[in-house]
Amino acid sequence: MVKMTEYAKRRKQLMQKIGSNGVVILAAAPTARRNGDADYAYRQQSDFYYLTGFDEPEAVAVIAPKRKQGEFILFNRVRDRAHEIWDGIRAGQEGACKTYGADQAFPFADLEKELPGILEGRATIHYALGVDKKFDKVIVRAMSKMRGKIRSGLQAPLGIVDIADTLHEMRLIKSSSEIALMRKAAEISAQAHIRAMQFCKPGMNEYQLEAEIQHEFQRNGARTPAYTSIVGSGANACILHYISNNQPIKNGDLVLVDAGAEYQYYAADITRTFPANGRFSAEQKAIYELVLKSQIAGIKAVRPGVAWPTVQTVIVKILTQGLIDLGILKGRLNELIAKEAYFPFYMHKSGHWLGLDVHDAGRYKVDGKWRKLQPGMVLTVEPGIYISADIPGVHKRWHNIGVRIEDDVLVTAKGSDVLSCDVPKTVTDIEALMTK
Ligand code: GLY
Ligand code: MN
Ligand code: MN
Repeated sequence: MVKMTEYAKRRKQLMQKIGSNGVVILAAAPTARRNGDADYAYRQQSDFYYLTGFDEPEAVAVIAPKRKQGEFILFNRVRDRAHEIWDGIRAGQEGACKTYGADQAFPFADLEKELPGILEGRATIHYALGVDKKFDKVIVRAMSKMRGKIRSGLQAPLGIVDIADTLHEMRLIKSSSEIALMRKAAEISAQAHIRAMQFCKPGMNEYQLEAEIQHEFQRNGARTPAYTSIVGSGANACILHYISNNQPIKNGDLVLVDAGAEYQYYAADITRTFPANGRFSAEQKAIYELVLKSQIAGIKAVRPGVAWPTVQTVIVKILTQGLIDLGILKGRLNELIAKEAYFPFYMHKSGHWLGLDVHDAGRYKVDGKWRKLQPGMVLTVEPGIYISADIPGVHKRWHNIGVRIEDDVLVTAKGSDVLSCDVPKTVTDIEALMTK
């Protein structure tokens, strides 16, 4: 669990970064109606949650350094017995202060009335413009209202700065409590992958395997996946974001499972590929071991000071050489790499940041240069080879083999720590687990 004192520490750190003439405004995620009276499950917006720990909708957080009446202001729903009977208890303004550490709390309905007063004298508003169109209008209205009063001496903010510049850089480096939650998310997800391997039998449907994964997530307190689980068998393993998960799993197929739990707002993102019947064919094994070799080398490259694209460079070299050795690509290694001959088989990056979001916040380039890895960053390493039947010039014995192997890697002072290491990934270990 992240303690309330940690959220307060983050707000303080952010205030130091933006300076005393800035102000931060964050809107809670909007609710989404599915139909009639049914809503989609609510999930707080990650930036908002990172700074408040507050998980109710219809809320706005304002962080105003050195403001006399208090620096952390929360606008949130009022307590209302009639609504609470239907939808659950609300914090209300008292709870906003007592439980969530707000210095001042106002009813959400008072936002437009109070905002100009809070923004007065602030040079810049730090805000994620364009994310919530409806809320953008609230900001614009507050600014124009203030501009109208400039002649009476009111100082209106001069500009809006993207919050990503400051806040997302903070989110990129995980604290020890965040790492503990991410480890837990990865452990739960690892058990789900193990369960999928244990339950998989030819003749099952992909959704039945998805159900086993969801079962394991949920019974361990991770109610939702961090993204829609991918369970692709046979040719479906070659579709990168396959989420239909509704085809029968055939004997002789490979099954690609890309599934990660969200635990207390933190994501895991793990992929394993295994044979439906528990035994890899010679061709499946050859491709699998190649992807694994590149993934292990990619993970080994993760350590402080290494530029992020180095992981991809290491992977591409191994995959390209492997495809030459298997006779799938023809030519010289350096030339094939230079012309990206691997691209029809491996068409994505080596991974991404991981955290509150599966593709987490944080820049990959800083001042035009690729970012160097630092302790506390968490990234995925996820090479793959996908041999769709329509790639010209490839012998059909390789067709419909799709393999991805993905782990969640924490950068440590000495190198790295694989958070998702509990799931087997060697051919021997997978076959042993599946044929037990
Ligand atoms: N599961 C999405 C990804 O691997 O990036
Ligand atoms: Mn990923
Ligand atoms: Mn993934």
